[in-house]
Amino acid sequence: MTLEEKIGQMNQYTGFFDVTGPAPADGEAKKKYDHIKSGKVGSMLNVRGAEQVQKMQKLAVENSRLGIPIIFALDVIHGHKTIFPIPLAEAASWDLEAIEKGARVAAIEAAAQGLNWTFAPMVDISRDARWGRVMEGAGEDTYLGSKIAAARVMGFQGDDLSANNTIIACAKHFAGYGFAESGKEYNTADVGTSTLHNVILPLFKAAKDAGVRTFMNSFNELNGIPATGDRYLQRVILKGEWNFDGFVVSDWDSIIEMIQHGHAADGKHAAELAANAGCDMDMEAHLYIKHLKDLVKSGKVKESDIDDAARRILRVKYELGLFDDPYRYCDETREKELIYADAHKAAALDMAKKSIVLLKNEKNILPLAKSGQKIALIGPLADDKDSPLGNWRLAADGNNAITVLEGMNTYKENTINHQIGVKLLSNEKTRFIYELEINTTDKSDMDEAVAAAKVADVVVMVLGEHGFQSGEGRSRAELDLPGLQQELLEKCFAANSNMVLVLNNGRPLAIPWAAKNVPAIIEAWQLGMESGNAIAQVLYGDYNPSGKLPMTFPRDVNQVPIYYNYKNTGRPDPNGMVFWSHYTDQTNDPLYPFGHGLSYTTFKYDNLHTIVNGRKVVVSVSVTNTGKVDGEEVVQLYIRDKVASVTRPIKELKGFKKINLAAGKSQTVLFTLTEKELGFFNNQGKFIVESGDFDVMVGGSSATSLDNTFTIK
Ligand code: NOJ
Repeated sequence: MTLEEKIGQMNQYTGFFDVTGPAPADGEAKKKYDHIKSGKVGSMLNVRGAEQVQKMQKLAVENSRLGIPIIFALDVIHGHKTIFPIPLAEAASWDLEAIEKGARVAAIEAAAQGLNWTFAPMVDISRDARWGRVMEGAGEDTYLGSKIAAARVMGFQGDDLSANNTIIACAKHFAGYGFAESGKEYNTADVGTSTLHNVILPLFKAAKDAGVRTFMNSFNELNGIPATGDRYLQRVILKGEWNFDGFVVSDWDSIIEMIQHGHAADGKHAAELAANAGCDMDMEAHLYIKHLKDLVKSGKVKESDIDDAARRILRVKYELGLFDDPYRYCDETREKELIYADAHKAAALDMAKKSIVLLKNEKNILPLAKSGQKIALIGPLADDKDSPLGNWRLAADGNNAITVLEGMNTYKENTINHQIGVKLLSNEKTRFIYELEINTTDKSDMDEAVAAAKVADVVVMVLGEHGFQSGEGRSRAELDLPGLQQELLEKCFAANSNMVLVLNNGRPLAIPWAAKNVPAIIEAWQLGMESGNAIAQVLYGDYNPSGKLPMTFPRDVNQVPIYYNYKNTGRPDPNGMVFWSHYTDQTNDPLYPFGHGLSYTTFKYDNLHTIVNGRKVVVSVSVTNTGKVDGEEVVQLYIRDKVASVTRPIKELKGFKKINLAAGKSQTVLFTLTEKELGFFNNQGKFIVESGDFDVMVGGSSATSLDNTFTIK
């Protein structure tokens, strides 16, 4: 390969024209077209559909000197055409098998549309609900997040990358993006070594160990260095210590953004910094293709590093089988058969039900009676067919989710009076970016909603955020119910307090009034195409909810970042004084803790025992279903390393098991803790296990009080 051809492999462009039409005559599209034909493009993103991909692939394979196939990428985040719950919702299922299956289904549909590569999973830890992208990750916990990262990678990639129904995954954003200061999108992240090694990196390592073939670096700077140009992260840790032999792609334009960061003087300098740091592919900044050749000639970038990058990219293309048959993913018949297959919809419904978290259920208001009820179904999201699809659903057809109204209407023996209460405002800003808001001024629909509430047996409110109020670029400074919804909620409640609140949202919300007053609250996130069916089945008790929060719900936005695995500080308790770690005007407690989630039955935990054998600890606990119906429970195990050379959190999740218990039955649940769970990374990034005393806590949420101790010698 010539130097230019190798650099071509490192260049990724976004789609530029409908390939089935005439070739572009001039401008940017013409440049890209010519570059593909001359072997200067290694990958394309945002081109999909068997026909489109095939035609674009042909341009490369039949015209360039070496005929190297292009690798086609898209953000396939929670389903492809059949849309699944947003990733944060899926994480609430704590069901690794279902999550893996969701990624598998997404891969089958994406591969049938000619795609080879998804930019997922996002494995950024998020502790700040203001950050819009919390919807795209698995929440705040490193242990749960690592398991989910691995499940998603395995789901997308399957066990044979060359099969025509698997795609390669991408662990992103490497690293620290979730620690954007004040939850503001793209903001600076400044984290210490302990947090980097113990909280952020393990999820990436889990993805790597599960075989992920690509990483994406990140928009943010981390400790003063833009992640895209961070040699320590990419060369020292990822490709060095972890021995990763796939490739790293930049985030969109993140190479050129190093100029704005104040790290690169100009585009050429940015290309030099990124290439030297180990970023193998340039997503749409056009800087590698422009400058790398000169940079090699002038000795600023080593040709051996270009060789290494090109080799990594070609290796992955080879693994995908693209050299055997560059069109193996492009079959329009398969595309027609597989998109929206019934089995895919069934998997989406299963995942949606498992993702729902019952936050509160007083007075046994839930499940609802299936007949003889007059129900007032109120809220701007109760019959919206688009919002449940959430953000990051690039291939979705839109407006094709089952709404709560539609789902509830399948239970025919109740009457439903649906009232919007407050309108959604849609404001189409550009072809791709929609800003959807919930009305802040127009109260004209409120009175009718209140009147409906007044005469109903039960009121079901469907409130929250529109699907486009979270996601990239959608940080919020408030965590309340947007627009006039809080007012609507309070007015309807005053009319009829026999109320269930169904929340649809892409992040934890601070809803202290609802938590205090409304007797039943269901967290239903944005559940994808089958949303309304899943919610109706939970409301009517045909599915007993089992989800648990993957992220803490604050009482107040001013508590964030708030997370369960915090450090104790030197002054954790009041001792009758003011000088302790607290607010004077707000409690330290969250509204709902990490791991919280109720069921229509109840579970009792007792007999917590530990047996230590060297550096292995077996923990047993008995769990009893003390209610009247069968149910599933996520049994969670937390530990606390009481004294350590680098302080450890007050509790850390180190095991969980989802069990199914018939009413009245008990089960002994066993966990084994090994060095992997007992140790931590010190401030030199070295994994160590220290002897000493540990607390172990087991229960149905991070707020469990059942505990025991053990000692590691
Ligand atoms: C920017 C986002 O940060 C990244 O996650 C995504 O994969 C790329 N755009 C490509 O769409």
